[in-house]
Amino acid sequence: MTKFEEVLELAKRRGFFWPSFSIYGGISGFMDYGPLGTMLKDNVIRTWRENYLKLGAVSIDTPNITPEPVFRASGHIERFSDIAARCSKCGYKSKLESLLPADSGIPKNIEEAKEIVEKYKITCPVCGSRITEVYDFNLMFRLNSGDVTNLYLRPETAQGIFVNFKLLLNQNRGRIPMITAQLGKGFRNEISPRQGLIRMREIFMGEIEAFLDPETNNFKISDDGSEISFLPNTLKPVRMTISRAVEDSMINGDHAFFLSQTYNILRSCGIKPESIRFRQHRKDELSHYSSDCWDAEINMDGEWIETVGIADRGVYDLSRHQQFSGEKMTVKSGDREFIPKVIEPAYGIDRISFFILYDSYYRRENGFKVLRLAPDISPYHAAFFPLQNKDGVNDLAWSVYEKIREIDPYVIYDDAGSIGKRYARQDEIGTPYCIVFDYESKDDGTVTIRERDSTKQIRIKYADLERAELFRNRNPFPQFYRN
Ligand code: GLY
Repeated sequence: MTKFEEVLELAKRRGFFWPSFSIYGGISGFMDYGPLGTMLKDNVIRTWRENYLKLGAVSIDTPNITPEPVFRASGHIERFSDIAARCSKCGYKSKLESLLPADSGIPKNIEEAKEIVEKYKITCPVCGSRITEVYDFNLMFRLNSGDVTNLYLRPETAQGIFVNFKLLLNQNRGRIPMITAQLGKGFRNEISPRQGLIRMREIFMGEIEAFLDPETNNFKISDDGSEISFLPNTLKPVRMTISRAVEDSMINGDHAFFLSQTYNILRSCGIKPESIRFRQHRKDELSHYSSDCWDAEINMDGEWIETVGIADRGVYDLSRHQQFSGEKMTVKSGDREFIPKVIEPAYGIDRISFFILYDSYYRRENGFKVLRLAPDISPYHAAFFPLQNKDGVNDLAWSVYEKIREIDPYVIYDDAGSIGKRYARQDEIGTPYCIVFDYESKDDGTVTIRERDSTKQIRIKYADLERAELFRNRNPFPQFYRN
């Protein structure tokens, strides 16, 4: 099994996520979050939300179903499409881009696509036949229910923010910079969805639209001096701090500010620095609304996968909505009146959740599987075990567990099977600490705490566990070394 397959197997067996509707044969591109996955995803959302609340963000929650005029104005009806390829022999369908060699370039229209397919003799990866069918494939789901045909499932949450710009600005007392946030589902009719949580038709997005004065630098980057990997569209990889990338004019200051926020969020989720890079889009892959875009990508077995897209949407969306709706989308600042420009960091919450598992997964020398999750991202902060299920040891363990659960509900009790099996179960779901009660606990009030990564054990008074917020802390027990 590859590491990817091992993580999928663990995710399903332990209840992080699994394919949807499996009792009816399943359908590709849809996944369910199980009990632990739901908790993990909530932690990702909390981390994301708190990061932006600290910057003064305002939130909004708008419908998934959106009328056609919104997407006419936004350009999605005309341009939110992929060029698809279909094998006329075996029926395999795919995004054409994924079948093209690196030097072919990306076709801008069907005519160019046909020429490239012919010139490079593109073949079907399944049966090897020459590809002859290429066509435009709009990625939006259109609803068709009775008379109602001019409705779509939104492909991004962003438009719900843009159409409400004036109301949000009022809420923000007319001030920009204004950072707005929306969490919710987006829907994309992917041509060939696969790879678990990585490519789905229904995605959970965390989108930020930052409305900015185009004539000033709106934010100051606070850099901790970490060097980060960048792949600019010159295709020459570099490592530097984000501040340096701005000084070298590789990235505009406000755009870079949101790269730094994104880096901090991914690091807070526990993704390793060496697994993160920022890649700038080539001109021929930019979305119809952006003039520049940097993706935060995560490394999966050598392949870099887009996880957050940080786009400079300029004044595109507000100008289009002003033009199509007749509603003014301007801001007044002194004697100036202008349409603000927008930087949009768009987070794939599902992908981040998956990569947290992938990036933290490893096997011990004895083959046992471990998720090295950051303590506050892990579904449970600690597990409570009685070593003996008798003589009052279990009663004591349960009563302390119940007390702690009042302070921190993210704790679990397990009295089933040998202690080794219980440790292994918690290691597999990433619980950082196991707290074991034994006969001595009854006599002197101490318990053993076993730390997941080092497997080191220390003995402390269980009364000390009652400090509120103890387990949420990144390093609650300094006796254990932790990265
Ligand atoms: N709003 C960004 C995206 O649709 O990917």
